[in-house]
Amino acid sequence: MTVIPGNSKSRLDPEPMPRRDWLGLTALWSTASALLFGVLGALRLPKAAVVAAPSKSFKIALPEALPAGEALVPPGRAVAVYRDGEGVYAISTICTHLGCVVKPNAEGFECPCHGSRFDAAGGVIKGPAPRALPWLQVRVSGADVQIDEGKTVPNGTKVKDA
Ligand code: FES
Repeated sequence: MTVIPGNSKSRLDPEPMPRRDWLGLTALWSTASALLFGVLGALRLPKAAVVAAPSKSFKIALPEALPAGEALVPPGRAVAVYRDGEGVYAISTICTHLGCVVKPNAEGFECPCHGSRFDAAGGVIKGPAPRALPWLQVRVSGADVQIDEGKTVPNGTKVKDA
């Protein structure tokens, strides 16, 4: 220990930090740490888990050879599209009971969830479905058929194709 003449303290013996300064520095470092970790946490937040829903309106090419009364179900869509002598029409395949996707069959449609059955026009044959399957808006332009799953039309509405 080196003793400086005239001073009873050593140069290597630091002055004790006043309590007020120590508390101030501690508060400063705590605040800085909290801000830093807050910013890092905000940067690590997951990106929004929102996936853009596909458009409810879509276009398909209806095959010329589609037999009357036979459903064409576009992949990934809950719609059955038909062509008969009166025109083109689309019926939603979302069950009016609890929203399962119904399957077209020889009679019309059958719901795999609770057994509702619908006729070929979507009318209820057997519940628990409370209502008929809705018909959807269809526009025909040449061989293309534009279907809007978001717009219903009165059941029985068929659009003449060219
Ligand atoms: S969801 Fe179709 S019968 Fe229940």
